[in-house]
Amino acid sequence: MYKIAVAGTGYVGLVAGVCFAEVGHQVTCVDIDKKKVEIMKSGISPIYEEGLEELMQKNNAAGRIDYTTDYQSAYKDADAIFIGVGTPEQPDGSANLSFIATVARQIAESVVKDCLVVVKSTVPVGTNDKVEQFIKDFLINDVKVEVASNPEFLAQGSAVHDTLHAERIIIGTESKQAEHLLMKIYEPFHLPIVSVSRRSAEMIKYASNDFLALKISYMNDIANLCELVGADIQDVAKGMSFDERIGSKFLNAGIGFGGSCFPKDTKALEYIARQNGYELKTVKAAIGVNNEQKTMLYKKASKRLITFNGLKVAVLGLTFKPGTDDLREAASLENVPLLLEQGANIFAYDPVGAENFAKVHPEGRGGRGSITYVSNIEHALEGANVCFIFTEWGEVKAVTPEKYKALMRTPLVYDGRNIYRVDKMQEAGVEYHSIGRKS
Ligand code: UGA
Repeated sequence: MYKIAVAGTGYVGLVAGVCFAEVGHQVTCVDIDKKKVEIMKSGISPIYEEGLEELMQKNNAAGRIDYTTDYQSAYKDADAIFIGVGTPEQPDGSANLSFIATVARQIAESVVKDCLVVVKSTVPVGTNDKVEQFIKDFLINDVKVEVASNPEFLAQGSAVHDTLHAERIIIGTESKQAEHLLMKIYEPFHLPIVSVSRRSAEMIKYASNDFLALKISYMNDIANLCELVGADIQDVAKGMSFDERIGSKFLNAGIGFGGSCFPKDTKALEYIARQNGYELKTVKAAIGVNNEQKTMLYKKASKRLITFNGLKVAVLGLTFKPGTDDLREAASLENVPLLLEQGANIFAYDPVGAENFAKVHPEGRGGRGSITYVSNIEHALEGANVCFIFTEWGEVKAVTPEKYKALMRTPLVYDGRNIYRVDKMQEAGVEYHSIGRKS
């Protein structure tokens, strides 16, 4: 078993750290936020992720994992230091590498024995070469530090499961020793390992995410055409899914992809291509389709209603997908301001995301309208003139068509997640608009 340090306790770092501890490694998670460290020490997860807290408590109690702000003690004699800090998007679409650089410098100034630095954060191709040089430039002690790439493929909401049962582990190394150590660290997971060069590993991450983003945008594009020609996108997707070359996953048309990854990684790869004098036409198109998709329903509803001024608007779901309290690039963040500007009185429901949303749009007046957060879907629907569904939470799916009819003043529903069968909604007397299906 190895002594592992993890830099950054966001989705990537914390989940990786906890899972390394779970398979028996000795882990120290490092974060600059003292409060967060204290919370984690007491077995509370700073992020909402199924199964994470239980694993934290189990491994905290077993003494296999600790949390600290003292990076020096965590890094100095670690066998491997995993970097899982953020690489946020900059206004030009490029990735901001300042957090990585800070950690790299701290590592260089702390290590007292040879170690492997493993970059889990999503970084532009060639970054790991630079990180290795950067660390060498700042090293204080006479030790050998190598850098490896080990991109992360977990999805929010199923992060622990995705890590413990990953379909593949990608390791990108430039030496046999680095490859061997990473193989050993991952051995107890018993998962398929693909070993490639550092640059290929960096590229695999972007290529995978952007391919999935493309797949979604393609389905959204086809969905929009389905509406115009009278086909049904769900039937179309079903028919496509039997072809194993296409596969059955990520074929759901909807209100566009959000989250911290696809929007950022599509723009980042497009930027990398541009920097290299190449135009990545497919990814560019996926970004364009996604931008338009997010307000598609709002535009449809605007035409149908003429105005939102003074209307009670139920908004069901605020997060970018179910199972997370994350709002980054969520469709709600684009649609709610438009509705408020138009004077809508919004009653918003989300089982876990409302608190975060209220930080951006505090309860009360906003624009020409207002926003109220409710903990009960019925309250949102009662007397509403129109309802928007932005996230397919189980709680939202559980609302029957009859309930919309019974509770709403005008049973008019715009569903960005194609939760309901069109015929069932129509039978219940609901005017139902969804994505890529007849109204
Ligand atoms: C995504 C990838 O799925 C992970 O493999 C990857 O590791 C992660 O990014 C990352 O780079 O860190 P995540 O952003 O958590 O994970 O969420 P997804 O489940 O992939 O969903 C992203 C967005 O696409 C959501 O807004 C979701 O609603 C949307 N989506 C997904 C669709 O509109 N249709 C689909 O068929 C699937």
